[in-house]
Amino acid sequence: MRIVSDTDLPDLADVEARVRAAIHRRDSSGLRLLGHGEVSIVLGWPTDEPVHALKRVPPFRTAALAQQYIDACEQNFAVLRAAEVQLWPTSLHTVVRDDGRVVVYHRQPVADPVQIGSNVLRAAEPADSHPLLDVIVASVVRVVTPTVGFDVQVANWLWDGTTAQQLDFTSPFLMTPARDDLLFDTSGFLQEYPAVLRPLLRRELTTLIRRLTTAEGAIGDMISNLHKEGLHQWVDPAIRAARNVAGVSVDKATAIKMYEDDKKLMPVALKLKKVQRAWLVRTGRTYDSLLPDRTTYE
Ligand SMILES: Nc1ncnc2c1ncn2[C@@H]1O[C@H](COP(=O)(O)OP(=O)(O)OP(=O)(O)O)[C@@H](O)[C@H]1O
Ligand SMILES: [Mg+2]
Repeated sequence: MRIVSDTDLPDLADVEARVRAAIHRRDSSGLRLLGHGEVSIVLGWPTDEPVHALKRVPPFRTAALAQQYIDACEQNFAVLRAAEVQLWPTSLHTVVRDDGRVVVYHRQPVADPVQIGSNVLRAAEPADSHPLLDVIVASVVRVVTPTVGFDVQVANWLWDGTTAQQLDFTSPFLMTPARDDLLFDTSGFLQEYPAVLRPLLRRELTTLIRRLTTAEGAIGDMISNLHKEGLHQWVDPAIRAARNVAGVSVDKATAIKMYEDDKKLMPVALKLKKVQRAWLVRTGRTYDSLLPDRTTYE
């Protein structure tokens, strides 16, 4: 990872204060959003001319839990590097808030949107294959193990014409040896949902992560996301790349079913977060995440 000198870094206490104000107003219009996935919102900083891309992870209750998350991220970087995956330069930073909670930010240089994998495929002429898809499927088989998952959807990669770099590190999918949980405490993520649903969601999350620990599952998930992005013309080339480059067979119908399930689930999940937010606000407490207006499925 590139070491960012302190003078390069934005004042994260100031960033956190601005994010909290936006959360409080339930309005992110004063911030510059570079993108969002299903988990994090990516902030451009400074707002008027961004040089940093900042990804805020839901706050941890204690410094020890934040450290556990950071350790899992560092281990994930090491696993990916050992598997010869190219990584977009990323550093992790913490802000200790007055209320004792610890917020972790991932800091990256701002990427050229033209190079984001989904935009690359959208702009490319239809073809039987694409080198980005070949690199992705080849990297999956080098990374996944029963305890290491990999989220390889095309929007998580940058492609400069010759090299693919992974840019999404906010959820390190490293599991315990028993494969029943992640290596870090996910309650901050689950805190965004109504309490009654958390046990169910925790089970769903475990199922999803187990899916990402097999090459078939991780590539199937990537293909299901091609449908989400409207990149249907790249589904057959991706299935072909999986077979020819990685020796993995992915069933087209299963990928469509995954997409249809996610398309139903994700907007419900976001609505549930909004319900939880309304409930906390009504009972005089604060919700601690900035939510997008809609999911990437709408
Ligand atoms: N460094 C960056 N510069 C510009 N845009 C970025 C950068 N990082 C991410 N983005 C944009 O934001 C989107 C979401 O980012 P990312 O994949 O890291 O988060 P996420 O999908 O919410 O993470 P998670 O896998 O934890 O759900 C990316 O697909 C991309 O379009
Ligand atoms: Mg992502």
